[in-house]
Amino acid sequence: MARLAPSILGADFARLGEEIADADRAGVDILHLDIMDGHFVPNISYGPAIVKTIDKLTDSYLDVHFMLSEPEKYFEAFVKSGADSITFHLEVHREPAKYARQLREMGVEAGISINPDMPVERVLSHMQDFDFLLIMSVFPGFGGQEFIKDALLKVQAARRHITQHGLKTQIAIDGGINRANAAEVVAAGADILVMGSAFFGAKDRGALVKYVAGLA
Ligand code: DX5
Ligand code: ZN
Repeated sequence: MARLAPSILGADFARLGEEIADADRAGVDILHLDIMDGHFVPNISYGPAIVKTIDKLTDSYLDVHFMLSEPEKYFEAFVKSGADSITFHLEVHREPAKYARQLREMGVEAGISINPDMPVERVLSHMQDFDFLLIMSVFPGFGGQEFIKDALLKVQAARRHITQHGLKTQIAIDGGINRANAAEVVAAGADILVMGSAFFGAKDRGALVKYVAGLA
């Protein structure tokens, strides 16, 4: 069973409380929060104060995606703000195990992410240290971009590695995911589908959550 994780970047921030209540009503139990520093990616999003606000508004699991050049500097602030997991990029830490340990010691789960131009082979040997592998299917920085199909091969390779080694790591995919490509992404082996524009732009969000939950 796959899970849909709405990316709050796609929400209407003028109505953030209502958007989150509506995601709860739609049956979501995980929210994806994109943190951008204007350095690792060419955009700036929001910081720990907004994460804390969101944490007060929902019981959903907060999956925090760090698009930051120096992620470890911000672990503590976001853990205190209510993050349940923090995912950072292999591009900034090629030896990431030590940071996964730090996160777990702080009481949160750890994720590792790769951009579209990072070969999946580079991350496979690190997967046993992480709860989540987040495969980017767009170059991060902005919502609403088109899905890069090569990501499907990466998901398949990661799924094979997990099966072969009996790992518990969950595979998430992020960028350009929508109702039209959800089935092939899940068939490739993804557990969690991050959706920004597709979720917040859906006419019937509850039906979309159910549709993803029914994919296997
Ligand atoms: C991209 C972010 C994504 C993004 C997804 O930089 O990491 O989480 O918000 O948005 P969509 O689903 O619109 O591509
Ligand atoms: Zn993201």
